Amino acid sequence: MQRLIIISNRLPVKIELKDGEILAKKSEGGLATGLDSLTNNYERHWIGWPGIYPENKSDENRINAFLEKDNIYPVYLSKELIELYYEGYCNDTIWPLFHYFFVYVRHNQMYWQAYQEANTLFLKKALEIAKPDDIIWVHDYQLMLLPGLLREHLPESKIGFFLHIPFPAYELFRNLTSRKEILHGLLGADLIGFHTFDYMRHFLNSAYRIMGVDTKQNEISYDNRVVYTDTFPMGIAFDKYHNAFRTPEVMKYIDEYQTFYGNQKIILSVDRLDYTKGILHRLSAFDMLLDQHPEYKGKVSLLAIVVPSRDTVAQYKELKNRIDEKIGYINGKYSDMNWVPIFYLYRGLPFEPLSALYHLSDIALVTPLRDGMNLVAKEYAAAKNDKPGVLILSEMAGAAIELTDAIIINPNSIEEITDAMHTALIMPEEEQKQRLEKMQAIIRRDNVDTWASGFIGQLQEVHTIRSEIQKKIFNNENLSELKAGFDNAESKLLLLDYDGTLVPLIKDPAKAIPDKKLMGLLKKLTAKSGVTLSIISGRDYTFMDKYFGSSDIELIAEHGSFYKENKFWVKAFSQSDDWKKEIYPIMQKITDKTPGSCIEEKNSAIVWHYKKCDDWLADLREHQLINLLVSVCTKNNLHLMRGNKIVEVMVSELDKGNAAKRLLNKKSWDFILAMGDDTTDENLFAALPEHAYSIRIGTGATKARFNIMNQKAALKILEKLAE
Ligand code: UDP
Ligand code: G6P
Repeated sequence: MQRLIIISNRLPVKIELKDGEILAKKSEGGLATGLDSLTNNYERHWIGWPGIYPENKSDENRINAFLEKDNIYPVYLSKELIELYYEGYCNDTIWPLFHYFFVYVRHNQMYWQAYQEANTLFLKKALEIAKPDDIIWVHDYQLMLLPGLLREHLPESKIGFFLHIPFPAYELFRNLTSRKEILHGLLGADLIGFHTFDYMRHFLNSAYRIMGVDTKQNEISYDNRVVYTDTFPMGIAFDKYHNAFRTPEVMKYIDEYQTFYGNQKIILSVDRLDYTKGILHRLSAFDMLLDQHPEYKGKVSLLAIVVPSRDTVAQYKELKNRIDEKIGYINGKYSDMNWVPIFYLYRGLPFEPLSALYHLSDIALVTPLRDGMNLVAKEYAAAKNDKPGVLILSEMAGAAIELTDAIIINPNSIEEITDAMHTALIMPEEEQKQRLEKMQAIIRRDNVDTWASGFIGQLQEVHTIRSEIQKKIFNNENLSELKAGFDNAESKLLLLDYDGTLVPLIKDPAKAIPDKKLMGLLKKLTAKSGVTLSIISGRDYTFMDKYFGSSDIELIAEHGSFYKENKFWVKAFSQSDDWKKEIYPIMQKITDKTPGSCIEEKNSAIVWHYKKCDDWLADLREHQLINLLVSVCTKNNLHLMRGNKIVEVMVSELDKGNAAKRLLNKKSWDFILAMGDDTTDENLFAALPEHAYSIRIGTGATKARFNIMNQKAALKILEKLAE
């Protein structure tokens, strides 16, 4: 069976020692409860912090043995480390920042050092447990450096990372002093998963802006690897909650609560103690409801379950006091001898009583100010089964993307929450059921098992793609073979692209001119006996002539529209220039609206360049431009092409493949090498005979026989041939 190594700060159980006896308690929070209910067919191993500081080695050994029978491997962290790493960097820096509580964020160098140290301890344990074919799945914001650390030690392993909390907008994330290290750590994974598209978008944006990495849709080229990102909204164990009310253990609680609450309407509120959950706003809204609708007094109660969490962190302590005060205030204000407005439990409930409350409650009030997903919302909707009930859900929770049949509210508006409660209380039962049914269909389908198998399946796929790419990567063995083939051949043809192949891609193409070293290399190659070297570029012939006109290089400009023969440039197409009058104004309109973009006019083409533009804006404008161009190009029989940060419209008679044929057919070549980095070079690769070497710069899908990682590697190959 496939081994799956889950690594998270929090294990599914917390260990306690009572009178020398080991007790395992269920952990709080969606990560632990959600992941623990996976039933997928993996041999599951779990590495994490057991929540205890054993006093001696013998206790430690006993705990190890106790957990190991369930394939759980504890990472022990000292009290001091927990203070600085867990309470500090995790919950005093990252948690508030990633949940948009900017004023709560504390930057402290000692926190950061502790975070690095703790991540290294998790690494050590992982290296003890993991085998080469294992899937390693790292979870959440406490371990963002771990994928990078693992990658250093296990370069070939399948490493996935899932973030259970929001990834904030770039403008927030950039404030983190260790932002580069965090991104580097995350980019060690093969696949990075997020609950929602927005979190993923923010991450890609941050990676692009802070690390300057190339992002292509959801892929990032980093450190000679491709890192994939995607969305996987976490689900729950649907059947477990849906059918809970039928089990005798849960029925017992349902009967008990029903007798206790009688005909009262119950509004349920369930969260960990956390300022992100909007508990105070919710209490204010309940206060307002009783104020505006006195008819609900004696008839409606709020049941607030607050699960103790992180109460050693200052903000949490303070929140606890404010909740206590506010509940005291509301109860004091409205209670009478027969009725209490708010029932308040400051403790976590086990599955059975909690499911009974979900099943019974008339309304679930889930109003976090920010929440990665929020499983309580899904559990409530599932546990209702076919009983009526209303879910009021914050639009700031990841779950709101899927559960659109809830009453969706903005959690910052006390009025909206109040109105939503009133709407829920008067909603016809039929409507309640219809809404629940729709939500249940989604929660049933996208459950926790489909979530995990979706992520793991994609991680496996990504790994297969990586291995395929790896197989095509031009290695030292290929280089020796290439060199021998070149040296032994009598007639040799080198077909080389210019931008991105002979010179690096830079923001300003005008500055990408050949330096002395490159000129020397090309001269050396052309001087070798039997060598014909051709530069096949998209550049116009004036540029080509200026820099290479006096060399022995065969020049082909504008993707084959012009070539130089016997010192003269030959035009290789017949189409007139009339089309330019239509295309140019369209490009000009988009250029005017896109700072940093520009138009290049060639003889056979007009190009819109956007290398210097903001990524997001460029993406928008590129789509707009293409939409505007499509019909005009079809009408005029023009070729519309998306290249590397360009959109090019050109006459359609020629491409680099056709252009190369003129040289290819000149004689029977013993050796052919073609190199290029762009989509236009694919036509060239396709036109080559089977024995030719073709190399694509970059890891993109290609018709070339080989890929190499970057432009520097391309020059190294040419240098080897020139030796
Ligand atoms: N939970 C629990 N007992 C309680 C309250 C909550 O077991 O008394 C569980 C609940 O079933 C859910 C998890 O805690 O699975 C909370 O997850 P959620 O995603 O809603 O919030 P998080 O705590 O992860 O921020
Ligand atoms: C959230 C986080 C989890 C965390 C849980 C409980 O769900 O995403 O990573 O485990 O809260 O918090 P705690 O600090 O007790 O682990």
